[in-house]
Amino acid sequence: MKNYQFFSKIYDEFMGTKYQDFYEEILFKLFKNEPIKNKAILELGCGTGEIIKRFSEDNKTFGIDISSEMIRAAQKKDKITKYMIMDMADFKLPYSFDVIFCAFDSINHISSASGWKKVFQNSKKHLNDNGLFVFDFNTLEKFSSINNKTLVKNSKNFYTIISTQASRNKCSWDITIFEKEIDNSYKLYKEKIVESSFPVEGVMEMVKKVFGNAKIIKRSKERVFILAKK
Ligand SMILES: C[S@@+](CC[C@H](N)C(=O)[O-])C[C@H]1O[C@@H](n2cnc3c(N)ncnc32)[C@H](O)[C@@H]1O
Repeated sequence: MKNYQFFSKIYDEFMGTKYQDFYEEILFKLFKNEPIKNKAILELGCGTGEIIKRFSEDNKTFGIDISSEMIRAAQKKDKITKYMIMDMADFKLPYSFDVIFCAFDSINHISSASGWKKVFQNSKKHLNDNGLFVFDFNTLEKFSSINNKTLVKNSKNFYTIISTQASRNKCSWDITIFEKEIDNSYKLYKEKIVESSFPVEGVMEMVKKVFGNAKIIKRSKERVFILAKK
């Protein structure tokens, strides 16, 4: 089954925008808190476009995602950014970028270390000289900490249950969505999202091998943000 086919229906409502606000701040800091203008910016795994759309007025913005439903949701909200359905481990664009970022554990959706390396290599290939590559990922510790947890959320149109299972370097989110119908019945959707992770030191090594440099710009037990420069 395709990922995010149904979760796309409630993604923005479920996630809120706190995290995306935080990403915007991180990017601003990289540009020394100057307004980011006239840059070519690409987001890998852009989802509903909640982050990239914030830069679309003043920059050339692009977003790629493997889910056609997420891309459709992004296009509805933001008519300026060029959104495309593509695999971040295997994208080819006739443009080069000043900034490429991959936010909110999108890279964890790639299952193998060799796939992560491809994302890094491909990003480097698409960056201008001095271009920046920024990404974050869920750590193995995060997976252990959310093992066997269940989240329930009720909103005007949806009732959602998400339960998580972690084992080794994988974590799966089992998502059940009940969509309220006009006649008070419910439509039921189910899907599973699986993430993979790797030790932080190993990821840093991979990035360094590709870019020749890598810096942790923020680290908590659960999430690490890495910056590399071409
Ligand atoms: C957790 S969401 C993050 C979305 C967005 N970056 C945000 O901050 O809201 C992960 C996204 O990665 C996308 N994704 C998963 N595998 C992908 C791949 N191989 N190539 C491109 N996008 C992918 C999913 O479809 C989903 O939209």
